[in-house]
Amino acid sequence: MSRLTRARRTAALAAATAAAAATALFTAPAAGAAPQPIVGGTTTTTSAYPFMMQITDSSQRQFCGGTLVAPTKVVTAAHCMVGETTSSVRVVGGRTYRNGTNGTVARVSNIWIHPDYRSVTRGDDVAVLTLSTSMPYATAPYVSSSDTSVYAPGTTARILGWGTTSSGGSSSNQLRTATVPTVSDSSCRNSYGSRYISSDMVCAGYASGGVDTCQGDSGGPLLIGGRLAGITSWGDGCAAADSPGVYTRLTTFSAQVTAQVNS
Ligand code: ARG
Repeated sequence: MSRLTRARRTAALAAATAAAAATALFTAPAAGAAPQPIVGGTTTTTSAYPFMMQITDSSQRQFCGGTLVAPTKVVTAAHCMVGETTSSVRVVGGRTYRNGTNGTVARVSNIWIHPDYRSVTRGDDVAVLTLSTSMPYATAPYVSSSDTSVYAPGTTARILGWGTTSSGGSSSNQLRTATVPTVSDSSCRNSYGSRYISSDMVCAGYASGGVDTCQGDSGGPLLIGGRLAGITSWGDGCAAADSPGVYTRLTTFSAQVTAQVNS
């Protein structure tokens, strides 16, 4: 797992942050380069994207993203929930800033992790959280199993999150967003070999890199045509050329998500 970008709460740990800052000295672009805003995006708000949820620890420290798909149901990544319990996590809506105290905090009454989930490069990276109380925010529609055409290569997809703005960098305090084109299965297979499982994953990003999700964005949405179509899952580094972001292919799992939404 070490080569894979894993968000988790490392960003919240001072020691890890210091280590990341040290690493960044060796991986940062040349001095004077433009800040790499996710990586390569712009700031936005939860007013603009009301379904965008922070997944936090019990002290409300954000470590992953999630998407509100029903008043008490949040779609996120399975790898975000490994080792978590209903008492260790919170879902926070309506909070644009990681260090904010506003918005709505919900406790979690159930965590469904895809039963076949083992690791991000083996697919099945999807989880559904059931909240103890309803979120007073607009929900996002999500793709159905027959919507596979949304992934046609080159389709514009929107990514959102509070993750690091460069590989090994620090998290963004403000929510960020960017758009990236979807990538064909053959191209993504060229990048990742057998780690790319086309039935369970979809890639998005520019061949030249520069725009991508990064650590801390996991679990958040890949939106295509305004619908949730993917979940931020993994990649080699962030925003590197020929290493696109890998997202959970939600059409494969939408029936299972619906079963959880209706449970
Ligand atoms: N696994 C990361 C997370 O847990 C997401 C990394 C996405 N990486 C990428 N290059 N798109 O936050």
